[in-house]
Amino acid sequence: MPQDDDKRLAAIAAADEVKDGMLVGLGTGSTAAFLIDELGRRHAAGLKFRAVATSLKSEAQAKALGISVLPFSEVSSVDLAIDGADEIDPHMRALKGAGGAMLREKCVAASARRMVVIADGSKAVAQLGAMPVPCETLPFAQAFVAAALERLGARVVLRLRDGQPHRTDQDNIVFDCHFGMLADPAALAAQLSSIPGMIGHGLFIDEVDALYLADAGQIIVRERLISG
Ligand code: 5RP
Repeated sequence: MPQDDDKRLAAIAAADEVKDGMLVGLGTGSTAAFLIDELGRRHAAGLKFRAVATSLKSEAQAKALGISVLPFSEVSSVDLAIDGADEIDPHMRALKGAGGAMLREKCVAASARRMVVIADGSKAVAQLGAMPVPCETLPFAQAFVAAALERLGARVVLRLRDGQPHRTDQDNIVFDCHFGMLADPAALAAQLSSIPGMIGHGLFIDEVDALYLADAGQIIVRERLISG
């Protein structure tokens, strides 16, 4: 599939950023899975690095490839994080969480000295918001948080899997919040973050430093401008 070829291409190009001795944050999703495969190959070929993972699935994949995975609970910062995204705009603001891992992904991204997004061309957008904003929520506060999200203007949909509420790796639920196209993602991110019980949303405003975008077999690398 051409889209998968581009995901793999972006992942392999970004893998060059992993150097001996680094502690690397491994993302989650199909593009990140290509990265982990590639890093497994490089590890087998002698590249010496350790990792933390942003999901149980990525952790299992990395460990199966022989990569040393540290518990993030014992790590205050990583050298480099590499992860996918669902949408990324020209200001390096990303929308993540279609896979439901945005809370761990944001913790690892925020801890990273450098955070790189890997993506196929379909993920580059002029404006964020075609996809709903995923909001990981404490089940205890489900009704309260849903009402608060609606007051912010969202159509709020509880994410289901096999007919049951989807549960994250932390055993929380996810609300997919349809706001429409986002005129001011930073302002919305701040409003979401202020809701008690809403533990992590998929808007990444400041975290991303660079983008490896593969489109029809061509790689483009973009760095965040200092002004953001
Ligand atoms: C998971 C994510 C993923 O990075 C995002 O959904 C992209 O996934 P894919 O690489 O499969 O397109 O944020 O929470």
